[in-house]
Amino acid sequence: KKILFASSETHPLIKTGGLADVAGSLPLALAELGQDVRIIMPNYQGIKNCEPGRYLCTVRVNNCDVNLLETRLPDSDVIVWLVDYPPFFNFPGNPYLDEAGRPWPNIGERFALFCRIIVEVATNRAYLDWHADIVHCNDWQTGLVPALLSLEPNPPATIFTIHNMAYQGLFPGSTYAQLNLPGQLLHPDGLEFHGMLSFIKGGLSYSDRITTVSPTYAQEIQTPEFGYGLEGLLAHKQSQLRGILNGIDVSVWNPANDAYIAKPFSVDTLKDKQINKAALQQQLGLPVESETPLFGLIGRLVEQKGIDLVLSCLQEMTTLPLQFALLGSGDKSIEYRLQEFARLYPEKVSITIGYDERLAHQIEAGADIFLMPSRFEPCGLNQMYSQCYGTIPIVRKTGGLADTVVDALPESIANGSASGISFNDASAAALIEAIKRSLVLFHNRPVWKKIQRNAMLKDFSWQNSANQYLALYNEI
Ligand code: ADP
Ligand code: GLC
Repeated sequence: KKILFASSETHPLIKTGGLADVAGSLPLALAELGQDVRIIMPNYQGIKNCEPGRYLCTVRVNNCDVNLLETRLPDSDVIVWLVDYPPFFNFPGNPYLDEAGRPWPNIGERFALFCRIIVEVATNRAYLDWHADIVHCNDWQTGLVPALLSLEPNPPATIFTIHNMAYQGLFPGSTYAQLNLPGQLLHPDGLEFHGMLSFIKGGLSYSDRITTVSPTYAQEIQTPEFGYGLEGLLAHKQSQLRGILNGIDVSVWNPANDAYIAKPFSVDTLKDKQINKAALQQQLGLPVESETPLFGLIGRLVEQKGIDLVLSCLQEMTTLPLQFALLGSGDKSIEYRLQEFARLYPEKVSITIGYDERLAHQIEAGADIFLMPSRFEPCGLNQMYSQCYGTIPIVRKTGGLADTVVDALPESIANGSASGISFNDASAAALIEAIKRSLVLFHNRPVWKKIQRNAMLKDFSWQNSANQYLALYNEI
């Protein structure tokens, strides 16, 4: 099948979160299964790690002349088409925010243009001599594609994958006219959401199949707590909705072959994890102590990730025999409060504000325990990376975290399935209790080793999930 995979970010070209990891690895897994996959994304100024795009053609949409460039995912044959329109994309910053961290004021225009180009390419009007069978859209930035394709005579089939219901691409009703979108799509069963324009509704209302990134999240988004007003629509389309767990790129996240870390290790050389721990402690200015459990956390510092719960626990954590290393960026007030702790407790707390791929790998390799107390989590990748690195995750039992981590209880420890620690309530009390539970387990060396082994032997590769997507492509 010919699959056009549309995403606003793709690792390693440009990344703000897990969507990029998925867009940079699922297409590779599909290509390995014999599919002809092309990725399409905007040509941002910040794109790196690929050969400069080769000019293919110019397409005119909505009075804009847009170039299409072609490059490849590094070390692969997977083609990436870059939508090149400098007035929208040639700026410093990330796909959604400017350099100062403010949302791009014309973000609706930008992604509407991106969607229009995807439609031109998918319907072969760009004359690339490649006709898509399937357009696989991801998140709101591509939501208009299924809607616009529904107006075409012989459209390719569409899949829309929800990576996060909290981001919907909602704009004032007046934006609709500014974007010059076809009137037929503006109604409550179309792109309209309570008088506003909703990009995500284009994906939900018009695609042939909807997927989300874990089975549990597929259930959760059909409830008001996680559906943000779209739970009714999702429940109505239940028969077209699937939860397919994300895989991870095991060539990037593999402790036995990770160029970023001090000493590669595997389940058979687990003691070498200590070398990574010592290197990390030293690098972060924490006392180099092998017996003190080192907690890690990597992520966007936003409410979704339960960072407020961590902040509420930090004071008490500093009284426990542990160290804590965090890497992240996001909400400025959260960043500030975290840094305060690092200033007050430099022997226990290390806070790195920013985005740093190398350090992310080093924390996964060097930490003993990984904190991921998300309030909601469509899938989550770091808990899977952690397990591969024998870094035991503490997670809240929600979304993909519930689907990928088996809580260490007497029974699961006995039957060899325990791979982490999970808790239910989104409260500081529940988190601190889980942390204390992890300390007890950590100091029970034989049991801890067993949990590490279980975690490291789990298969999180794309194999299984890529096959599930393939089955879905064949269905439509
Ligand atoms: P989300 O997509 O909601 O941010 P995921 O767990 O799916 O959460 O994916 C986040 C990805 O982004 C992971 O690969 C994680 O390592 C990476 N990441 C997040 N913040 C940082 C950071 N500050 N530095 C390096 N990598 C980060
Ligand atoms: C989103 C979600 C995260 C998921 C990622 C990739 O950003 O927040 O849970 O892992 O997308 O699907």
